Amino acid sequence: MLQLDDLHVKFQHFSIDLFQNDLINWFQQEKRSLPWRENRDPYRIWVSEIMLQQTKVDTVIPYFHRFMERFPTIQALAEADEQDVLKAWEGLGYYSRARNLQTAVREVAEIHAGKVPDDVEQLGKLKGVGPYTKGAILSIAYGIPQPAVDGNVMRVLSRILLITEDIAKPKARKIFEAAVGKMISKDDPSSFNQGMMELGALICTPKKPACMLCPVQEHCAAYQQGLQEELPIKSKGKKQKTIPYLSVIVENEQGEVLIEKRPEEGLLANLWQFPMVDASDVSLEQLAYWFQLEYGMKITLEETLQPVRHIFSHIIWELIVLRAKTKDDAAENGRFVALTDINDYPFPVPHQKILQQIHVQD
Ligand code: ADE
Repeated sequence: MLQLDDLHVKFQHFSIDLFQNDLINWFQQEKRSLPWRENRDPYRIWVSEIMLQQTKVDTVIPYFHRFMERFPTIQALAEADEQDVLKAWEGLGYYSRARNLQTAVREVAEIHAGKVPDDVEQLGKLKGVGPYTKGAILSIAYGIPQPAVDGNVMRVLSRILLITEDIAKPKARKIFEAAVGKMISKDDPSSFNQGMMELGALICTPKKPACMLCPVQEHCAAYQQGLQEELPIKSKGKKQKTIPYLSVIVENEQGEVLIEKRPEEGLLANLWQFPMVDASDVSLEQLAYWFQLEYGMKITLEETLQPVRHIFSHIIWELIVLRAKTKDDAAENGRFVALTDINDYPFPVPHQKILQQIHVQD
C-alpha cells in the first residue's frame, strides 16, 4: 500500500510545470460552457458543486437554471421555505444535500454577513461542505490552491501517477489530496481543478478512455504501461438490499388522494408520498386493517396498478401499487389533496412514478 511518505517517488520523473501547462491550456480551449462557469459567484459555484455530487452534468443543468431563478442569492435561499427548496430539488435525489445546503446558507447569512467564507476552517464547518466541496469553492470562486478530489479526479490521478490504492476506501482520498497538493497550479488553481474534472468527464472516462486525444498523455504512467483500463482499483460495495412495500392510492368521494409527509430524519426526509408499508410486516390481506389503525380510515381495495422499482444508492424499493376508495374525509397522519394541487408537494421519484399512473388513467 502506498503511504503518504512514499508519494514523492511518483514525482521523481514527473514534470509538474509541464503537466500544469498542458492541462490548463487544454482546459482553456476545450472547456464546456456551463451555467456555473459564467462568473465566479461563490454561491452559484457552491450550488453547482452540491448538485454535481452523484449527478451528471446534463441532468444538473436544467435544475441549476431553475434553482437560480427561484433562489438567486444567499439571502433568497436562506429565507425560502424548506418545502419549496425540496420541490426545486425534486427528482435530483439525495435530498439531504438540499436540506444541508439550506442550513449552511442560513449560517452564512447569519454568521458571515451573507459572504461565503474564503477560509478553509470556516468554510469546512458549514453543513454539507466536505473536503471536496470546500476545495472546489476555494479554488474556483476564490483562486485558492486547495485540492478538490472526488471519484472522477481519483480515477484520473490513479492513471496519471499509477496509484493502485482502492479508491472505494475512505482513506484513499488523503493520498490523492496530497498528490494534488503537490501538483496544483498556484497561479490558476481554478483551471487546474476544473481541468482535472473536465479531463475525467470528457477524456479519462471510466471505460475506454480516449488516450489518443488526451492533453496529458505523455505524463501518464498508466498509459505508458498500457494499464489505463486496469485503473483505478475500486472494490465493489455491498449489494443493495431489496425491500418490498405495499403502497396505496386512496381516493375519497371528491376524487382527492391521500398523501403523507415522511419523517424529519432519514431517507427522503420531509418529502411527501402515498401511504406505504413494508410488505414483510403487513400482508395484502391485512392492509385494510393496518390502514384503519394507522390512518383511522376504512378503505376498500379496488385494483392493482403497475409495480414500481427504484434503486437508491444503498437499497432498492419494490412497490406493489394498489388503488383504494374511502368514504372518509379526514385522515390521521395524512392529508387529502386534489390532483390539481398535488404538484405543489415534493415527491421522491418512485412516488412520482405512481402519480404518473393515475394521471395517465384519469
Ligand atoms: N463535476 C464536479 N464539479 C464540476 C464542475 N465544476 N464542472 C464540471 N463538472 C463537474
